[in-house]
Amino acid sequence: MNQPNALAMLAAAVGAPTFVRHADLLSWVRRIAELTKPQRIHWCDGTQEEYEALCTEMVAAGTLKKLNSEKRPGCYLAWSDPSDVARVEDRTFICSERQESAGPTNNWVAPEEMRKTLSGLFEGCMIGRTLYVVPFSMGPLGSPIAHVGIELTDSPYVVVSMRIMTRMGKAVYDVLGADGGFVPCLHSVGAPLAPGQKDVSWPCNRDTKYIVHFPETREIWSYGSGYGGNALLGKKCFALRIASVMGRDQGWLAEHMLVLGVTAPDGEKTYVTAAFPSACGKTNFAMVIPPEGFEGWRVSTIGDDIAWIKPGPDGRFYAINPEAGYFGVAPGTSEESNPNAMAMLRENAIFTNVALTENGDVWWEGMSKTPPGRLTDWTGQAWEPGCGRKAAHPNSRFTVPSTNCPSLDPEWDNPDGVPISAFIFGGRRSDTTPLVVQAFSWDDGVYKAATMGSEMTAAAAGKVGEVRRDPFAMLPFCGYHMGDYFQHWLNMGQKVKHLPRIFNVNWFRTDEHGKFAWPGFGQNMRVLKWVVDRCQGRAKATETALGWQPEYHEIEWRGLENFSHGQFWSIMSVDAQAWERELKSHDEFFAKIGDRLPKAIRLQRELLGLRLGA
Ligand code: GTP
Ligand code: SPV
Ligand code: MN
Repeated sequence: MNQPNALAMLAAAVGAPTFVRHADLLSWVRRIAELTKPQRIHWCDGTQEEYEALCTEMVAAGTLKKLNSEKRPGCYLAWSDPSDVARVEDRTFICSERQESAGPTNNWVAPEEMRKTLSGLFEGCMIGRTLYVVPFSMGPLGSPIAHVGIELTDSPYVVVSMRIMTRMGKAVYDVLGADGGFVPCLHSVGAPLAPGQKDVSWPCNRDTKYIVHFPETREIWSYGSGYGGNALLGKKCFALRIASVMGRDQGWLAEHMLVLGVTAPDGEKTYVTAAFPSACGKTNFAMVIPPEGFEGWRVSTIGDDIAWIKPGPDGRFYAINPEAGYFGVAPGTSEESNPNAMAMLRENAIFTNVALTENGDVWWEGMSKTPPGRLTDWTGQAWEPGCGRKAAHPNSRFTVPSTNCPSLDPEWDNPDGVPISAFIFGGRRSDTTPLVVQAFSWDDGVYKAATMGSEMTAAAAGKVGEVRRDPFAMLPFCGYHMGDYFQHWLNMGQKVKHLPRIFNVNWFRTDEHGKFAWPGFGQNMRVLKWVVDRCQGRAKATETALGWQPEYHEIEWRGLENFSHGQFWSIMSVDAQAWERELKSHDEFFAKIGDRLPKAIRLQRELLGLRLGA
């Protein structure tokens, strides 16, 4: 568009403020407004005033409740529709040109067909609502590793959540200029309002949900849900599914990983990432407070969910957290399990689907040993201890800015990222996989990550508790063929001189009574220290069939002396029969991946089989 007049006319047609002068963006907004027919368009500037005005509107509409300003200043509570409480993996699609590019682990529909379906669904879907234009940056604004997205949404809850979770606001347009690239993210709750129709407190579409990605054109279309990863499109849709495709093409990694720093008493700093499946302890681990026995040690937080990792000029991998906030699991969070999280939730947080106390505070299962005598549960009903229902939904969450976190690492916002010494992978397994093991090599580590198994949690709609293969904790988040993704990881091992060490952990082994055999939470520091010591060349390890494992005396036990040698053995041992079953399950999974399974993975499978004598 070379006529300044045409640009001004286009801007005027969609009511764009003067700071938006991006022709492609303006015409996209016009196209979408024509399709979805909103009552008005609101161009977000990301200011505190805008945030507060939207919250106030949502309180009036019944979407938010303002919490007691003495107990939780600046905090709100939202209760969603009971049909809209988690990610919907069976409604999530990777619509690549060829089905093969999406691979056997993703739902696929031909792009043309999907575009037809979506055009039909989005036709008039914002009638009676406001279309918000939400500019955001994943990663520090203007950083060479950051990427810009624009979300168009008809949900003010999404707008305020995006302001917490991303760098959202006017400054993004400075980065974008007149022709900068951005990922278009279109979102609707899929609930148009007829003239005079009264809105509900959590609009969504109970019957129809679509979370759709077009990897070649790098577009996201999301319909019917207002919850979490379905609707905050910067998170899973962009920073994982689309970014994993960008990373494959450009030589970097977009991963479902926390990033933390460990400072030893002498000041030595080691950065580590950890990939655990949804609701398997990333937030807890990212903020772990070293227990008794670790005087002088400190753990600091870079991120709790997503890492973008690139080879640096010095031959090491560098990681950034593309997000600016935490969307964390509430149940189980307490002063004992995660004091840092409890501290960061004191103000300016949005809680979703937790219970409300009589004095305007929040409560969830596990926050305290004895629940308050009376609550209003997440469905709005009166609740009493022993009534047989959960007060908070198992996937209830908090949304809070990173800067609230007491353990936030000073480097969290560094556009260059932090150098990574170890990759940790951990599933939720009641048996089979040990507390900790170090891979023999990069390829063995990739094999371990690729064959990770985990019991499903409430983070996604589905069969909670069922063990499934969740390679790299990326099963629901990889935007392309899983076999190619494994190959990409193998290739990345050739890209840096100083390769991070790779480890497997499992906090979730159970004893003969079905109780967790490892105390977990803060005590995970004992495993983390061994990992750090291995990276720094200090700790000894013993070779086993699985890899390098610590003997009992290699772990720091001060403060946990009563955890016996026998107990340790029970969660470290390798059960031959269990591993026979496990290998079968690896093979079944590989059969599903098909002929795109890398040769190097097949070789590692053979070696593991030989070591296990199977
Ligand atoms: P997403 O945000 O869904 O990606 O998950 P996350 O990995 O950040 O989950 P989070 O840290 O919020 O994990 C929540 C669940 O894991 C809660 O049920 C916790 O009680 C449990 N959990 C976390 N750490 C431990 C641990 O060390 N041991 C045990 N047994 N449970 C843990
Ligand atoms: C997960 O499920 O892994 C999450 C929460 O981090 S959501 O953003 O809803 O996907
Ligand atoms: Mn996650």
